[in-house]
Amino acid sequence: MLDQTIIEELKIRNNIEDVISSYVRLSRAGKDLKGLCPFHSEKTPSFHVHPAEGYFHCFGCGAGGDVITFVMRAENLAYPEALEYLAKRAGIALPVDYGEGKKRDADRSLVAAMNREAAKYFHACLIDPKTPAGLDYLQKKRGFSMSLIRRFGLGYAPNGWDGLRNHLRAKGYTYEQMVTANLVQKSTKRENSYYDVFRDRVMVPIFDVGGNVVAFGGRLLSDGQPKYLNSAETPAFRKSKTLFALNFAKDHCAERMILCEGYMDAMALHGAGFPSAVATLGTAITPDHARLMSRYTKSVIICYDTDEAGKKAADKAFRILAEVGLEARILRVENAKDPDEFIKKSGAASFARLLDKSKSRFEYKLEGILSRHDPAVVDEKIKALSEITALIAEFPSSVERELYITAVSKKLEIPLKPLAEDVERVMRKNRSRQKKAFAEDVMRKTEGYADRINPQIVGNVASARAEEAILGILLLREDVTERALKEGVLCKEHFVTDFNRRVFMKIAELAEEGMPPETGLLGAYFTPEEMGRIVEMRLARSTLTDNGYTVFLTCVDRLKKGGRTSENSPEDIRAIIEKKRKGT
Ligand code: UTP
Ligand code: MN
Repeated sequence: MLDQTIIEELKIRNNIEDVISSYVRLSRAGKDLKGLCPFHSEKTPSFHVHPAEGYFHCFGCGAGGDVITFVMRAENLAYPEALEYLAKRAGIALPVDYGEGKKRDADRSLVAAMNREAAKYFHACLIDPKTPAGLDYLQKKRGFSMSLIRRFGLGYAPNGWDGLRNHLRAKGYTYEQMVTANLVQKSTKRENSYYDVFRDRVMVPIFDVGGNVVAFGGRLLSDGQPKYLNSAETPAFRKSKTLFALNFAKDHCAERMILCEGYMDAMALHGAGFPSAVATLGTAITPDHARLMSRYTKSVIICYDTDEAGKKAADKAFRILAEVGLEARILRVENAKDPDEFIKKSGAASFARLLDKSKSRFEYKLEGILSRHDPAVVDEKIKALSEITALIAEFPSSVERELYITAVSKKLEIPLKPLAEDVERVMRKNRSRQKKAFAEDVMRKTEGYADRINPQIVGNVASARAEEAILGILLLREDVTERALKEGVLCKEHFVTDFNRRVFMKIAELAEEGMPPETGLLGAYFTPEEMGRIVEMRLARSTLTDNGYTVFLTCVDRLKKGGRTSENSPEDIRAIIEKKRKGT
């Protein structure tokens, strides 16, 4: 069990403002700080840090909590790992054993060690003359040099059912542990039978930024399905947060990073002398990927496949990269389906030339529009202009818009003023559409519609609001909690929604052990998303002047009157929303 003093010390030594500042550019807003939320994409800051209270909270996505919750979310860590992270940051030693979390930690390092062992095994099989298929494929079919193969620790999983299984068994790992790492699967047909997941595949270890093997990708040597097989996700391996080859690229990408679709492409680029290449792992780029890149580089060159899917994916990448403030450009290879094939056909020097000719999103889109609509034909020119104004209107910077308007006006020989007016008109339309969508979102949230954290708010709006007021007070006032428990005015049965009941029970439990409902302690029992809600409840009350016992009793009374039956059916709520919408 963790003791409260350690949590307190961790928090004092890891000032929330300092910690968050290394992820988010914060500016002062009264006694608070604000900035762009690192947990969702936004253009105007709704992410607030309250240094005096030690909390952060985002009005846009509801994320919130203390410095521990923050690093859990930002670094994708479990609670005990977040504590360890902060302890290390502040140079404090944590007690050796603190329960549950230690076990998870141990699991993770065990998986890491097992993966390292598996990677060594695959590599040994690759260079074993008895199983030459893998090395043959990499050298002859893919043109990989031995030094590239070694750098990436590539391997081969021979065509059998138990090679790796037996190897790991001999090293002392159990079958269950191998299953946790997704290296071995349990047979559904035969009792107590386990077999290798990867067979007859070239094996690509997937490293995290620190160089630990967190997963594997395996490619079939011949045509077959599935062409690629990747490890399933685990807490230590999330595809949406992992970039292949970032561990190598991170020291070579300060100016620009090359983003590819496949790890074979990324490796081919490294082999050709472009060590700033990274790749996503068979998924589209996510905001998490973009934020990760923004820690290492200023500019990203999108280098995707030339097919339709690749074009669509590039559009998405442009948007996501821009949202985290990264400069993005695009490179399209010619006469090849992907960068790997291009390098093989045309060589590294040609690729370097393409790199220097990479295009901004505007240039790239403009080119596309003009290739579809020939501006020499009047009607086509009109169509093109309408697409171009819509494109320019998407850019939030007025300087950028000005520059593009001027460029287009010159290129297509049309006067500046009407073009600028058209852009302005499209922007006005977009703005009103956005406003409406935002208002609807807020309404859904306030009415508990589709509430992920406490889904039972739907149908129990009044009770849930009373519960939230009660919990807000209990989170703020230890004395009220103590008295309420002593006098027995409130117990878990009074709660209507399960989430709020859980929060209440935890607060009561801590109080019984003489501990405050400190977020640092609650963080061990609730997810970061749930912590956001808890902080929200506390903040909502902390702005009110009276949170004393009498007010508390009024809220309890309201909850008890709300009863256990549902006051609002989903139909009622829809009616409320409809009414509000008409009223405003
Ligand atoms: P591609 O089909 O474009 O493969 O898929 P590739 O990278 O060009 O591979 P080669 O050159 O044929 O060997 C792009 C990426 O999508 C993921 C892989 O990460 C691949 O690199 N993918 C593809 C899968 O995860 N599973 C599949 O079956 C296919
Ligand atoms: Mn390819």
